[in-house]
Amino acid sequence: MTINKAWWKEAVGYQIYPRSFMDTNHDGIGDLNGIRSKLDYLKDLGIGFIWITPIYESPNVDNGYDISDYQKILKTFGTMEEFDLLLSEAHQHGIKVIMDLVINHTSNQHEWFIESRSSVKDDYRDYYIWADGTIDGPPNDWVSIFGGSAWEYDETTHQYYLHVFAKEQPDLNWENPRVKRELFSMINWWLDKGIDGFRVDAISHIKKAPLTTKSTNDPFESFKNVSGIETHLEELRDVFKKRDILTVGEANGVSAEQAHQWVGENKGYFNMLFEFDHISLWNKSENDLLDVIHFKQALTKWQEALANGKGWNALYMENHDIPRSVSSFGSEEEVFWQASAKALALSFLLLQGTPFIYQGQEIGMTNMPFTSIDEIDAVDTKNFYYEMLQTGLAPDKAMEVIRKTARDNSRTPMQWTGEEYAGFSKRTPWMVINPNKRKINVLDQMDDPESVLNFYKKIIQLRSQNEALIYGGYKLYLPEHPQLFVYSRRLGDEHFVIIINLSKEFASADLPENVQIEDWDLQLSNLNKYEIHQHTIFAPYEARVYKHK
Ligand code: GLC
Ligand code: CA
Repeated sequence: MTINKAWWKEAVGYQIYPRSFMDTNHDGIGDLNGIRSKLDYLKDLGIGFIWITPIYESPNVDNGYDISDYQKILKTFGTMEEFDLLLSEAHQHGIKVIMDLVINHTSNQHEWFIESRSSVKDDYRDYYIWADGTIDGPPNDWVSIFGGSAWEYDETTHQYYLHVFAKEQPDLNWENPRVKRELFSMINWWLDKGIDGFRVDAISHIKKAPLTTKSTNDPFESFKNVSGIETHLEELRDVFKKRDILTVGEANGVSAEQAHQWVGENKGYFNMLFEFDHISLWNKSENDLLDVIHFKQALTKWQEALANGKGWNALYMENHDIPRSVSSFGSEEEVFWQASAKALALSFLLLQGTPFIYQGQEIGMTNMPFTSIDEIDAVDTKNFYYEMLQTGLAPDKAMEVIRKTARDNSRTPMQWTGEEYAGFSKRTPWMVINPNKRKINVLDQMDDPESVLNFYKKIIQLRSQNEALIYGGYKLYLPEHPQLFVYSRRLGDEHFVIIINLSKEFASADLPENVQIEDWDLQLSNLNKYEIHQHTIFAPYEARVYKHK
């Protein structure tokens, strides 16, 4: 098999949520100069590209995912000159820069929408999706991903507009060729600046079913990967195809079976996709335990669907929309915290695909013990909280659910040091700092050879030095084992086996015939080598990487 090499297959990515990364002018909000000040840190970690979540002008109803001007930088973050400086310094560090591309919707403060809502005859009316109401109110029964009806009534023209997310995020009308032309020229404008690609937000929602379609069991079916979306995506691909860039689509609703069409080497719309299968496995309610068998199945399904050059995977365990992985998939308990953070690192970094580390994940940051809804910023979480109260749930019970599920769990400021403001700022930040900053911070972990941070570094290094860990095939062993995740990566003679105990109990297993440990060298372990007494017994959250001799 010939290997199609690409820089974006070899690099490890790092997602930056700028608001919470590093504040340099001490207004309590992270900024572009803050990112620039940490380029050495990122380089040292082994990062090949950063993905920066939206920094464009925005009223920040959904923290930048509601864009009011695609070609301006939000003042709080800095200026366009500071962006250019960041871009060129990142490049000098050998770090590429991926921007967030939010083209399913704009802010309701975008000039297109302000025009659009002004009159049914306005030239921009068809930039958005407007419809007459019915006797029941909204045009149909569709509900928004952020709660409530997906329609908002507008007094000026007595019609409703569609919003898949918050009501301040009206959906663009992709059936209008003018909309596409504008968006594509904006994309080219950014690419001409020399950025290295896009993470394409909510892109599986750009096509809507006919408005007469009723909601089904899946409340979002009418605007999730709806057939006919191909045409729009092909046009978008033709814009991307002209450049050597990384594109990753956020593709809620795209199954592993369909993935090759979305990311196939030649005709795919994107280089890779963020899938939702393994992430949705984390049970948001009662049971805290990870369902290891289904977790392995979900990951393996994607690994196999895109194997042998059929496509490429995007690998992740965290992002700005989900709670911290140690808290949901691992354990915050003192005895398990460090080992579980490392075990989770090995559960995704060495799979086939391009890994994305989310800021703070590399030091094992955990969920925030939120005590009141006033500490919450995310609009969907607030909606959810008040919906729960309306059903009669007591506030403290509702807060319990929020503590576990809120996406703000991953938006607390980056813990650089154990100081009062965690080395993030010199004043109270926009979002509460996790009190465990004294225990979990970058500064302490830099000097500790056993730290989560140094473990991440070692894995990234190992990956960069062994092509099998990048281009090699993937194989799952012991699929039915309820605790162990065992997989191999192989390219010609280069052969690795990764064994991870994803449970709080000891685990044992007879390893498959061809994985007899005597023939293998231990490359990496989250226990001290000498603590490994028995090759076939694994301590809680123990994880090892072996290479064939
Ligand atoms: C994506 C983003 C999320 C945002 C939503 C609407 O899911 O990751 O943060 O709220 O799109 O743009
Ligand atoms: Ca600032």
